[in-house]
Amino acid sequence: MRIGIMTSGGDCPGLNAVIRGAVLNGIKSYEHEFVGFRDGWRGVKDADFFELPRTAVRGIAKQGGTILGTSRTNAFEGENGGPENISAVLKDNNIDALIAIGGEGTLAGAQRLCEAGLPIVGVPKTIDNDLDATDYTFGFDTANQIAVEAIDRLRTTGDSHHRCMVAEVMGRHVGWIALHAGMASGAHAILIPEVSTSMEQICQWVNEAHDRGRAPLIVVAEGFVPEGMEEAFSVRGVDTFGRARLGGIGEMLAPLIEERTGIETRATVLGHIQRGGVPTAFDRVLATRLGMASVDSVDDGAWGTMVALHGTKINRVPMRAALNNLKRVPMDRYNEAKILFG
Ligand code: F6P
Repeated sequence: MRIGIMTSGGDCPGLNAVIRGAVLNGIKSYEHEFVGFRDGWRGVKDADFFELPRTAVRGIAKQGGTILGTSRTNAFEGENGGPENISAVLKDNNIDALIAIGGEGTLAGAQRLCEAGLPIVGVPKTIDNDLDATDYTFGFDTANQIAVEAIDRLRTTGDSHHRCMVAEVMGRHVGWIALHAGMASGAHAILIPEVSTSMEQICQWVNEAHDRGRAPLIVVAEGFVPEGMEEAFSVRGVDTFGRARLGGIGEMLAPLIEERTGIETRATVLGHIQRGGVPTAFDRVLATRLGMASVDSVDDGAWGTMVALHGTKINRVPMRAALNNLKRVPMDRYNEAKILFG
């Protein structure tokens, strides 16, 4: 078989390990051939691809980013979009199947194309860890590691100046990175979109830590909004898709905390640093296993499925299972972390 691979949506440490795992398993176990589409659905729609022989994936598991490039292009929009055009691209270039590596938007597009009869399997990807039907997504561990290293550094400068430090981490819809990075770095408060928290409560945690002689440390997910302040916090602009732009919560919180507690406060946005650089060993192994398993799915003709981590096993689930609900931080996980606040 000749199999196309594409990476789509925001990049994520581990994408190259998926590509390598797929190509090596495909060549060694099945004698398949591979091509890589450039820049996600854009390359698929434009038939913009290159051959992926074994030499093309040599040593790439440890590289950040994606050798294929990525974009947030929609599979259905534009002149070349939609199932008929994409099916023609695959047929005209003798490509028998497509492995789509992406998050919610990518998998939703792939699912719709599968319903129209296209031979596609999915690999779930997001540093946010918000995809349902899989225990963890690769990239999440790396993002946490990067965030914790940065937050540890914020703590030492906060301690020197007796300041409250606010670290803003990624997480538009969910607070998984904030929860894990916050627990690991000993935050005095973790603020996530799933849990409505008042400014009074936040300031109480800040004051408690300060009264014990600590420099208060707050880890906040970019999608968090303080209770009752939805309107004031809604003016953060819109992105190119018309979605609310969320970055900036840290800068909005810092003066409010300083005003209410009298403690000098600084905010730092970790931003895209969390998505850059080399993947952790955990993410390399998970991504490699998912890539290898995705080729087994292709060989079985399991169109419309994605590979998923359940415990220590890699299983296959319908792509739609990942799309029904966002995987939010459950309250019991938050309440467990909350014992450590203040
Ligand atoms: O989906 C992952 C994510 O990192 C979000 O947490 C963040 O809001 C978003 O991507 C940023 O996207 P972009 O790179 O398009 O600015």
